[in-house]
Amino acid sequence: MQGVDKTYLTKEEERILDGEEGEVVSRLFRLLIRLGDIYGADKMIGVGSVQVAGVSYKSIGDPGTEFLEDIASKGTKVRTLTYLNPAGMDLEDWKKIGFPKDFAKNQLRIINAFKEMGIVITSTCTPYLAGNLPRFREHIAWSESSAVSFSNSVIGARTNREGGPSALAAAICGRTPNYGLHLWEKRQPTVKINVDVELTFNADFGALGYFVGKQVKNKIPYFTGIKNANTDQLKALGAAMAASGAVALYHIENLTPEADLVNSKNLETISVTHSDIKETYERLNSKKEPDIVILGCPHASLREIATLADRLKGKHLKKPVWICTSRVMKEAANRMGFTEIIEAAGGQVVADTCMVVSPIEQMGYKTTGVNSGKAANYLPGFCKQDVVFADINKLIEGQL
Ligand code: F3S
Repeated sequence: MQGVDKTYLTKEEERILDGEEGEVVSRLFRLLIRLGDIYGADKMIGVGSVQVAGVSYKSIGDPGTEFLEDIASKGTKVRTLTYLNPAGMDLEDWKKIGFPKDFAKNQLRIINAFKEMGIVITSTCTPYLAGNLPRFREHIAWSESSAVSFSNSVIGARTNREGGPSALAAAICGRTPNYGLHLWEKRQPTVKINVDVELTFNADFGALGYFVGKQVKNKIPYFTGIKNANTDQLKALGAAMAASGAVALYHIENLTPEADLVNSKNLETISVTHSDIKETYERLNSKKEPDIVILGCPHASLREIATLADRLKGKHLKKPVWICTSRVMKEAANRMGFTEIIEAAGGQVVADTCMVVSPIEQMGYKTTGVNSGKAANYLPGFCKQDVVFADINKLIEGQL
């Protein structure tokens, strides 16, 4: 085959490339080989799981929908456990929540195409909370930046940040090129961050992530000074850093699994103080009144849904509050009675989607309150929203 370096391929991979498993598989495998050539991969490696982005109709539109339907119509199936990133709406309760009908029709075409390929219809940016949990050092091919950060940093699995097409190719071919964060030497920290400020709310971790991401762009930070953090706070930190600085891996002294194994000596050090966090809150705050508050970026854990239910118990919201999560978490929240409490107050537990990939601007919202550094980063550009970035208590207080 012209223009493709086949020297590192196994016999089976050569067969795939030569079209013995079909034209679509061959075409997608060629894409992976090209990627490998560009980044100097020495071989292809098997992947334990895949997470595919580019799911919302808002993101991929008609061309993306037709591309996926074409692949699905040719009988192409994935070879490994594959989950989806959030879609543009709650796939079951979209009517009740008020998502536009035309949008829903197109969104369901996309979901059907993925389902035909054998992809698990779990649309979430926290697949690790919803049944797709990689193990330490497992090679995976995930695309959503916060999920990439969490799996690399908190779990110690290994993935580059895949684009939608390269993740789909990895799912269908069961492989990814061996380069970048799949290699131990590329997982070493390149900058030290000394955190000299107490962090309380999940939003504080989002503010820290946003601030650090802006400073370190594309580097691998090694944090000191963070004494404790739960997994919700780590996902908030990683998501914000990925959004503001394309950080795909971080280490935290005494907290994350590779921190004791990497070499953190002789690195440039940046200190983060109280005033840096305070200024970040100010910078991300339009100071307008939110007409909706949307929590759950990255998708909420059950603990975060329980916290919201606790804040809303017996209250009546004057303005809407949503919490975005995966279908799995929503089912658990239903069973625990959290959804009932949130809905009784006038809020919504919204599954399968989020504030950034759903068409909230089409639904009439102009100012959105969030406690996520990542959402605060993207909402102005992607959804034409003014943003209020604050901790959960302040946000809820403002909606009562
Ligand atoms: Fe997830 Fe959407 Fe935030 S995909 S990380 S909730 S922007």
